[in-house]
Amino acid sequence: MTALQHLAVGRHYAVHLPEPDDFDLWRERARALVEADVPPDRVAWSEPGGAGDLFALEGPANAALRLPVPPRDRPPVRASRRFVELAKSVVLHSDPGRFALLYRLLWRLQRSPRIMEDKADLDVRRAEDLAKAVRRDIHKMRAFARFRLVESDEAEAGEHYVAWFEPEHHILRANAGFFVRRFATMRWSILTPRGCLHWNGEVLEEGPPAQRGDAPAGDPAEDLWRTYYASIFNPARLKIGAMVKEMPRKYWKNMPEAVLIPELIAGAQAREARMVTSGSLDFGPRPATLAALGEGLHACRACPIGALESRAVMGEGAHDATLMIVGEQPGDQEDLAGRPFVGPAGQVLDRHLAQAGIDRGSAYLTNAAKHFKYVMKGKRRLHQSPAAKEIDTCRWWLENERALVRPRMVLALGASAARSLLGRTVSVGRERGRAIPLEDGSELWLTVHPSYLLRLEGEAQAEQERLFARDLAQVAARLAELEGA
Ligand code: URA
Repeated sequence: MTALQHLAVGRHYAVHLPEPDDFDLWRERARALVEADVPPDRVAWSEPGGAGDLFALEGPANAALRLPVPPRDRPPVRASRRFVELAKSVVLHSDPGRFALLYRLLWRLQRSPRIMEDKADLDVRRAEDLAKAVRRDIHKMRAFARFRLVESDEAEAGEHYVAWFEPEHHILRANAGFFVRRFATMRWSILTPRGCLHWNGEVLEEGPPAQRGDAPAGDPAEDLWRTYYASIFNPARLKIGAMVKEMPRKYWKNMPEAVLIPELIAGAQAREARMVTSGSLDFGPRPATLAALGEGLHACRACPIGALESRAVMGEGAHDATLMIVGEQPGDQEDLAGRPFVGPAGQVLDRHLAQAGIDRGSAYLTNAAKHFKYVMKGKRRLHQSPAAKEIDTCRWWLENERALVRPRMVLALGASAARSLLGRTVSVGRERGRAIPLEDGSELWLTVHPSYLLRLEGEAQAEQERLFARDLAQVAARLAELEGA
């Protein structure tokens, strides 16, 4: 008796599918049954090892059966493309009821061709759920199968990589093409409890189910991999719930980097608590020097400004400055020069610093946002203020500049700088002219941004210039006090 025979059980039909993922055979059998007008409740489907494996039955029920010959004028079996695509995935699920579900849907489709569009239909919904679970399993295997190098007896055969994976569904064959394309030149095997794949660089072969102990437990390259994983692990992006959903714990045991996860999560939670209060991002451990910080900054694309064609402008000045001056963001000229405060606003600032007796070279000048935000108007790049979210995203860089320079005074020019330093929006008009203590023991002074003075005219400008000069004179006096102390 061949495995593909249909069996009669009374007036019922039993169909055995010897391969659990064989869509083509299921389709062939299902079409024949529909053509023969066999209702779903008279068909029992089985697969090897399943509870409904009717080949395990003994006795006369296993007699071979011929399906009734369909009438000549029977319309062709119809199955929408949507059904076929869905069915191809559903067949890969491990639910023993999937073949019956699909047959019921196919049967109903002959009478209600639009059934697949009915989102409330229980059969359609169940099929979609199964297909989704299969897609997820396929994705997990691609993401979490880890190859380990094994010693090979055949010296000429070259290196052999072996991965162990435990799929939930019958996805091994469906995923074979992906691994062959991805690791075309490697010699590899993927071992699973449902079967194995072996690729020698030219030919793909299938093998019987394997056990976990058949696969190697680790190889020397894994230390390297773990170091790499720890260095790219971004606690700011870590949402533990989402991470465990994406990378369920059951996969961890096969992943070399997973031993680091609990430790990294613990560290990340503490950092995250700090970040939540400040609303900023955390890009990992602080670089040891301003130069290293600058290197990281140039690669930053964490907010939309970073995607513009402007360069990140790092702060400059004395690395042990008592006074740090923080502006809003580099302007057009700063972006071109790669240095802060070299354009028109910088000239206003320089003039006032000199007038107040503050030596620019002894201070450290930087900005709340590190990239120039602009819109193009013709050939000109017009300044745009950074949004609060962009300032918050960029705060990590400024905080690290402060932690490395350790200024005892910080002068914030304008509302964006004030927001970055205080973590909230404040009114510069109300807060200027006094020291505001910062959490590291330094003190913050607020004043307007010099470009504000440039936008004014006449009396209004003269008045604001006077107030700005007064603020800087106060800062200069306090600076002298601190430096004399
Ligand atoms: N405006 C700023 O806020 N910073 C600069 O570097 C230049 C202009």
